[in-house]
Amino acid sequence: MKKRADLLLVEQNLAESISKAQAMIMAGQVSIEGKIIKKYGETYSSDSNIKISFYLPVIFLIILILQISLGAFVSGLDAGQIYRTWPLMNQGYFPNDSIFSDLFSLKVFETPSLVQFIHRNVAYIMLVFFLVILFIVFKNDDLAYLRKSAIWVFLFLLLQLFLGILTIIFGAQIFFASMHQLGSIILLTATLILVFKNSRIN
Ligand code: HEM
Repeated sequence: MKKRADLLLVEQNLAESISKAQAMIMAGQVSIEGKIIKKYGETYSSDSNIKISFYLPVIFLIILILQISLGAFVSGLDAGQIYRTWPLMNQGYFPNDSIFSDLFSLKVFETPSLVQFIHRNVAYIMLVFFLVILFIVFKNDDLAYLRKSAIWVFLFLLLQLFLGILTIIFGAQIFFASMHQLGSIILLTATLILVFKNSRIN
């Protein structure tokens, strides 16, 4: 029996409501029998193979590229040679040579302590974000094909965070700074593999 695409999504518990299903279809997130569909009014067989695209790895990749660019700022401003403590930046979470509102001004591109502060915090955000990805990938059997690649990204992310902390503590000593730079290339490669695997299925 054939049914409307939006109805099928709700019936298969892939969307909470018809309006949510319609929004997902219009956003190009839904594929039926391997083909992305754009019209929610079209009808398909009730036993069609429906898949929802999983966009989070692509968002993670975009944040990673931003973080690597921030790393270049940290390195270029020699910002790794100040505030050589972790998790705090000397006595505080926020560097004491700046004020919070500076984060929203152009000073942010030229103040080493602020650049370091942002680089540290983007790394924490990436960790939390990737934990969410891992949780979804391991909870959802439809995404089982991503599990191995996701674990690799997670391990390289942890390694990269660890190397970043060592780089800070040792005042950007060349060995740790180079390992940290190399780590970002490995992490980027692992993330690209994850994104590639995700896009092939969907
Ligand atoms: C996902 C996490 C991270 C990524 C992808 C990343 C990436 C990078 C990259 C690519 C560079 C070098 C840029 C260049 O030399 O052109 C860099 C520099 C640096 N990063 Fe990170 N980083 C991460 C996390 C961290 C963390 C958590 C810390 C410290 C708590 C940190 C501290 C530093 C420091 C101090 C430098 C400057 C090293 C130097 O002067 O050569 N990074 N980062």
